[in-house]
Amino acid sequence: MSKLNSPLFNFVVSITLFQIIASFSLSTSQSLINEISTTTTKALFIFGDSTVDPGNNNYIDTVPENKADYKPYGQNGFFEKPTGRFSDGRVIVDFIAEYAKLPLLPPFLQPSADSSNGVNFASGGAGVLAETNQGLVIDLQTQLSSFEEVRKSLAEKLGEEKAKELISEAIYFISIGSNDYMGGYLGNPKMQESYNPEQYIGMVIGNLTQAIQILYEKGARNFGFLSLSPLGCLPALRALNREASNGGCFEVASALALAHNNALSSVLTSLDHILKGFKYCHSNFYDWLQDRINNPKNYGFKEGANACCGIGPYGGIFTCGGTKKVKEYDLCDNSDEYVWWDSFHPTEKIHEQFAKALWNGPPSVVGPYNLDNLFSNIKNKLTIADVVDNPEIEEGQFHF
Ligand SMILES: *[C@@H]1O[C@H](CO)[C@@H](O)[C@H](O)[C@H]1NC(C)=O
Repeated sequence: MSKLNSPLFNFVVSITLFQIIASFSLSTSQSLINEISTTTTKALFIFGDSTVDPGNNNYIDTVPENKADYKPYGQNGFFEKPTGRFSDGRVIVDFIAEYAKLPLLPPFLQPSADSSNGVNFASGGAGVLAETNQGLVIDLQTQLSSFEEVRKSLAEKLGEEKAKELISEAIYFISIGSNDYMGGYLGNPKMQESYNPEQYIGMVIGNLTQAIQILYEKGARNFGFLSLSPLGCLPALRALNREASNGGCFEVASALALAHNNALSSVLTSLDHILKGFKYCHSNFYDWLQDRINNPKNYGFKEGANACCGIGPYGGIFTCGGTKKVKEYDLCDNSDEYVWWDSFHPTEKIHEQFAKALWNGPPSVVGPYNLDNLFSNIKNKLTIADVVDNPEIEEGQFHF
C-alpha cells in the first residue's frame, strides 16, 4: 500500500480539506451577507419562445397563432389586461425576476423599454433555427443581434467598465427549441426528407451552442436553461395523435424533446470545461412535468391532460381567444386547477412551479447551480450546511 493511500494520510487530508472548506464557506457566507444589497442590481437577459415572451410579438407583423394580446390571455387578474404573455397570467421569468428582487423585465420591442436591469428578447413561435416559423417570429439570431444593440447602448450610458461588469454579472436565461421540433420538423415534411431526427437535433444543438458561445464572447458568464417538456403530451399534440393510441401522448415528439435535453446537457458539461468562468443552471423538467400531467392531484391540480382554453379533444384545437380561423373555444372556470392553459402553453401555476424549482430546486431537477446560487454569486457548489450535514462527502465534489 503506498503512503498516499494510507488511512492516516486520508484522514489528515480530510481534516485539512474540511478546514479549508469550512473557512472558505464562512468567508462565502460573510460575503453573501455583504452582497445582499448588490444582488438587487443584477441584470437578467431573456432569450426564447412563447414560454418566456412578455409581449415582443405585440410589436411584430405575424399570424394570430403567435400573438396573445387578447382575452382571455392574462385573465387571472395579476395584470390588468392581456399583455402578450401566452398564459393566464405571469410566465416563468416574471417569477424569477420577483425572486431576484428585480422589476418585471420589459419586452425589448416595447418603446422606451428600460434595459438597465436587463430586458427580454423572447418571441412566441421562435426557434433556434432561422427556418422555424421564418418571417413570423424574432428568431434566436435576431434576438442575439438585439442584445448586441443593448450592450452598446449600456456602454454608452454607463461607460465601458461599468457596462462590462453588468454584462458579466448578469444572468442569461434561454428557453427555446420546442418550435424547432413541432412546427419546424414534425410539421415540415421537407425538413424530415432532408434530415433524419439525429441530424436535425445536431443542427439545433449546434446552433444553440453557437448562440451560447456568442454571448460568452460578449462577456456573458452565467446561464440558465429551461429544458424541453414532453412535447407529445401538449393538448395540441395529443389531439393529433388520436388514432394512434387512444388519447396517448404523441411519443415521437416527446422522444425528440428528450434527445434534445440530453444533448444539451452534454454540451453544457463540455462548455463548463472549456470556457473559463462559465457557470450554468440546467433543468431536468421532462419527468417533472410528465408526473404533473399524469398525477395532477399530487401537485394541487385537478386536470393534467385537457387545456383550460381551446376546443375539441383535450382542448387541443388551438382556438383560445377566437382570433384564429375557428372562432369557438371553451374556457374553464378556474385555470389554477389546470396544468395546461391553452393547446400549447401551461398555466401560470405551472410557470410558478417551474420558476420555484429553477430558483432553489434540488440537484435532481436543477444543476450544477440553481438560479439562487447564480444571482447570489456563490462560487462553491456546496454550502457549509452541506459539509456539516454530510461529513463523508467526497473531496472530488468540491470545485474551488
Ligand atoms: C445551424 O443551422 C443551419 C440551418 O439553419 C445549418 O445549416 C447549420 O449547419 C447549423 N449550424 C451548426 C453549427 O450546427
